[in-house]
Amino acid sequence: MRESANPMRPYLGRLVETRELATGIKLFQVELTEREGNAAFADYRPGQFAFLSAFGAGEAPFGITSTPGRGPLLEFAVNELGHVTHTLHDLEVGDPVGIRGPLGNWFPMEELKGRNILILGGGIGGAPLRPVIHTILDHRQDYGHLTILWAARSPDLLIFTEEFDEWRAAWATELYLTVDQGDEEWTDNVGLITQLLERIAPSPENGVAITCGPPIMIHFVFLTLQKLGFASDQMLTTLEARMHCGIGKCGRCNLGEKFVCVDGPVFWQYEIAGFLEGFL
Ligand SMILES: Cc1cc2nc3c(=O)[nH]c(=O)nc-3n(C[C@H](O)[C@H](O)[C@H](O)COP(=O)(O)OP(=O)(O)OC[C@H]3O[C@@H](n4cnc5c(N)ncnc54)[C@H](O)[C@@H]3O)c2cc1C
Ligand code: FES
Repeated sequence: MRESANPMRPYLGRLVETRELATGIKLFQVELTEREGNAAFADYRPGQFAFLSAFGAGEAPFGITSTPGRGPLLEFAVNELGHVTHTLHDLEVGDPVGIRGPLGNWFPMEELKGRNILILGGGIGGAPLRPVIHTILDHRQDYGHLTILWAARSPDLLIFTEEFDEWRAAWATELYLTVDQGDEEWTDNVGLITQLLERIAPSPENGVAITCGPPIMIHFVFLTLQKLGFASDQMLTTLEARMHCGIGKCGRCNLGEKFVCVDGPVFWQYEIAGFLEGFL
């Protein structure tokens, strides 16, 4: 994040478009309307997050789901859960919003070049992984094989379904879908993402797995990856701790000695081994 006078002050933005991504989940496209805001977000990275505020309701942190280099709009996938997210869902195109960030660390996209990448996204947890997928697709020759496992509790909760054709069509890229429970139209995999992972059994050789989802899913995905031979420096995740300040001052998001907001949200498995249980 670039220096600004007050890191707690949100930049002004405007809602350019919203659309249903899945049941209870909306995609928000936001235009930053202040020069300082545009400067601050000029070089955000895949994996970073920002606080989105609805005026009068408050702010909440969300992973940035847009991709640097794919246009100036910032995108957030917001699951309607409580007060702030409910108010955000009620906003209309043209309404003002506040944006504070970009915050936190990011996925080491440079370091991942040349590696085979395995992405495991569960539900809304797929949102911060989308810019990783897009970055790989936009620089396809820089990375090895791309295998995406995309999961949700039910078909209506799968996000970014309209992008599946683009993902599948890319060179050396495979997309596998699974849901905990299908419906009458669902013809794809049914079962937990860990079952699908065991069945596909990707090779750990030169591989890096990147996962995000509910903490319990991350926990079991890591265990399954370990069984497949992935080492702790071959597994990355991004965590959603409860947060207030987002800048390492309030202590709300601590994980052992680390603060998720500044030391994360992106962590290698070895950095959080032993602490993840506290999230379950
Ligand atoms: C780094 C980071 C990235 C995130 N990315 C996304 C994203 O891309 N999309 C998205 O929809 N959400 C994301 N979240 C979670 C989001 O911040 C919360 O859902 C939001 O704060 C809820 O606010 P609210 O006022 O609507 O709900 P509240 O009224 O505060 O809470 C409603 C319910 O949700 C629970 N809750 C609130 N926050 C969390 C949390 N962090 N983890 C688990 N349960 C929680 C509360 O205990 C309560 O039961 C992210 C959180 C973090 C820290
Ligand atoms: S949210 Fe305040 S220290 Fe992380």
